[in-house]
Amino acid sequence: MNSQRITKCLFPAAGYGTRFLPATKATPKEMLPVLTKPLIQYGVEEALEAGMDTMAIVTGRGKRAIEDHFDISYELEHQIKGTSKEPLLREIRSVLNKCTFSYTRQVEMRGLGHAILTGETLIGNEAFAVVLADDLCDNRDEQAGVLSQMTKLYDKYKCSIVAIEEIPMDKTNKYGVIAGEEIEEGLFRITDMVEKPEPKDAPSNLAIIGRYILTPDIFDILRVTEPGKGGEIQITDALLEQAKQGKVLACKFKGTRFDCGSVDGFVEATNYFYEKSKEV
Ligand code: UTP
Repeated sequence: MNSQRITKCLFPAAGYGTRFLPATKATPKEMLPVLTKPLIQYGVEEALEAGMDTMAIVTGRGKRAIEDHFDISYELEHQIKGTSKEPLLREIRSVLNKCTFSYTRQVEMRGLGHAILTGETLIGNEAFAVVLADDLCDNRDEQAGVLSQMTKLYDKYKCSIVAIEEIPMDKTNKYGVIAGEEIEEGLFRITDMVEKPEPKDAPSNLAIIGRYILTPDIFDILRVTEPGKGGEIQITDALLEQAKQGKVLACKFKGTRFDCGSVDGFVEATNYFYEKSKEV
C-alpha cells in the first residue's frame, strides 16, 4: 500500500470559521477570496501541481457553496460566452477538467482529527495528502509547491510527513509544536508533539502548518484517539502515536505561508497576491 503514488487530497472544511464572523455566517470560510479566487481553489491547485487528481472534501452544514464552486454553472457560462469576461472562468474550468471531487459531511464538529477520520470513506486504504485551505501557501521563487516538496519526501521515506515552520516563541499556543532529531537539512524525525502549548511548555518553535501526508494507518489510530486539547480529537495526538509506533517526519518547507484563518494573515495574503499580480 505504501508504494503507491499519492493521488488523493483531503480538505477538512467543516469548521465554523468563527474568527471571520459575520462573513462566515452563511459563507464557508474556505470560499473567502484572496483577490478573485477562493481559498480552497488555491489549495486544489497546489494539490494538482503535486500530481493529485482526486479531491476529497469534508464539509458540514452551510458549506454547499464549495460544491457549487467546483461545478459548471451553465447559466453563467452561457451568459458570458464570447464576451470579454469569458477568460475569468478559464482557470476554474481547467481545474474541473483535471480532477474529480467527492464530498462527505462531518455532522458534529469534533476537531480536525475527527474531520480527517470522517474523510476515510473518500480515501480508503492508501496514503493521502491533507490541505487546510486557510493556510495559504505560495512559492514565488521556488519551483515546487509545498505538497510537491512533501510528496517527493514521501516517495523516499514512505511515512507520514507534516509541514513545519519556525514561529516566534510567543505564538506556540496557536499551533501544534514538534520536537525532533534532524535527519537531513530541514527534515526532522518527530519525537514529541504538543497541541497549542504555552511557550514555557513548548518543545521547540517548530510549528505544524496545514499540510500533511498521512499513511492510512492513521485512521485506526484516530478511531481510538480520545478528545484532547479543547475537547477535540486532535490530529497531533494521533500523529504522536504514529510516531511512537514507527516514524513521522516534519519538513521545513520552502515558500511562504499565510494564516488566512486570521484577519491579519488574510490581509497579508491579499496584499502579497495583489503585489504579485502586478508583477506579471
Ligand atoms: P480551525 O481551528 O481553523 O477552526 O480549524 P475553524 O472552525 O475553521 O475556525 P475558527 O477558529 O472558528 O475561526 C482548522 C481546520 O480544520 C477544519 C477547519 O475547517 C479548518 O480547515 N476543521 C476543524 C474541521 O473540518 N472540523 C472540525 O471539527 C474542526
